[in-house]
Amino acid sequence: MTILAPNSVQARDIASVVHPQTNLVTHLTQGPAVIERGDGIFIYDDSGERFLDAAAGLWCASLGYANERLAKVAYEQMRRLGYYHFYRSTTNEPGVDLAEALLRIAPVPMSKVLFQCSGSEANDTAIKLVWYYHAAIGKPEKRKIIGRRMGYHGSTSASISASGKSDMHADFGLPFPGFLHTEYPHYYRHHDEGETEEQFASRMADALEALILAERPETCAAFIAEPVMGAGGVILPPATYFERVQAILRKHDILFVVDEVICGFGRTGNMFGTQTFDLAPDIVTVAKALSASYVPISANLVSNAIYDILLAQSDKLGIFGHGYTYSSHPVSAAVALETLKIYEERDIVAQVRRVAPRMQAGLRSYADHRLVGDVRGVGLIGAIEIVRDKATKQSFEAKAAVAAFLVRRAQHHGVILRSMPGDIVAFCPPLIVQEGEIDEMLAGFGKALDDTAVMVRDKGLA
Ligand SMILES: Cc1ncc(COP(=O)(O)O)c(C=O)c1O
Repeated sequence: MTILAPNSVQARDIASVVHPQTNLVTHLTQGPAVIERGDGIFIYDDSGERFLDAAAGLWCASLGYANERLAKVAYEQMRRLGYYHFYRSTTNEPGVDLAEALLRIAPVPMSKVLFQCSGSEANDTAIKLVWYYHAAIGKPEKRKIIGRRMGYHGSTSASISASGKSDMHADFGLPFPGFLHTEYPHYYRHHDEGETEEQFASRMADALEALILAERPETCAAFIAEPVMGAGGVILPPATYFERVQAILRKHDILFVVDEVICGFGRTGNMFGTQTFDLAPDIVTVAKALSASYVPISANLVSNAIYDILLAQSDKLGIFGHGYTYSSHPVSAAVALETLKIYEERDIVAQVRRVAPRMQAGLRSYADHRLVGDVRGVGLIGAIEIVRDKATKQSFEAKAAVAAFLVRRAQHHGVILRSMPGDIVAFCPPLIVQEGEIDEMLAGFGKALDDTAVMVRDKGLA
């Protein structure tokens, strides 16, 4: 047990805070890690130790830390107008500028932008808009939301219902009725022997259609998907997957909500994952890198068809009855706008394309390691799946927590990575990462992998 000084930040934290996504019992005895500051792609803890943040916080710190321009813009906007709302036809310029900028770079032509504060709220809003749309066009029965097993769309009651994370449903009495989950396209884990990516993608699409038919298409409102699934294990769509899925959605008149919360703003080597995988969304949700995560802000980009309904309904009902106190908070909007300017000036997409091959090739250089089952990724997001037996793809027992051990060792070697269920280690450095820093990240991972191999051997796990 760690002994903590009574007045330390850790001790005060334990006495006062409930942490998200944390084992609260372990937290009582081990206490939190205290992060004091950041600089570029590095963060520093309370003992001054430096870590390369290869997780970009939570897949989000796209411009790294201590960006002076973003700090100055926030300060100046706070002095000019630190808060005002967007309700009842009230506006402010940063919000308008940001909406225009988003519509300019939208991956498909979009009509309007709605602002919220987080990825969860954006997806929650998308679900409400889908319900509202179908009700308004005389199809009130069309309400079911289809997500994917292991998909993640946020923590609000509706966005976690759309998510396929049973660990986040347990004992909350969720998902809500009317939220369905189809199989997720994890080719490495779930393809049959000899099945090509295309055949596997067709099987996944057929499963989606079977679900829709079993539930009755006239009750199915929308399908929500991340272009690359993040928290579900960095799952890339197998070849032809989205092509097949989108044909089915069109056939059954089901809206497509694309969750760009991780993929948006360059992560996959295009401005949006929608472009990388040739998607045709009705609603796009963005958050995280929208403001480089310096302030909370998210947005929904909606199609003409959806906006036309909002307009018609306002005429009928007297108001568009949705919004938040902080919808388009002027400070958040100003910081997000500056973030988009920085992306443009630095040509962030070109930067990602320049350095991504180094990361992807570096990850793949571990493919022959006996603990490595699969290596996958696109742009500056990737994953390595650790296995007990390479030939059979057999995993270690979950309780051995092998990937969690690896991530702890990586931290010991100065690199922050993220482990996920299924012994998956994710790589998602800030978009400004340079090639030398990618090498440093890979070297830290390599040492941690060697440490893990020794641990597995010593404990007789393999
Ligand atoms: C794809 C995706 N959607 C939505 C969310 C939820 O975003 P937030 O935590 O900002 O509510 C996340 C968070 O990790 C995410 O990865």
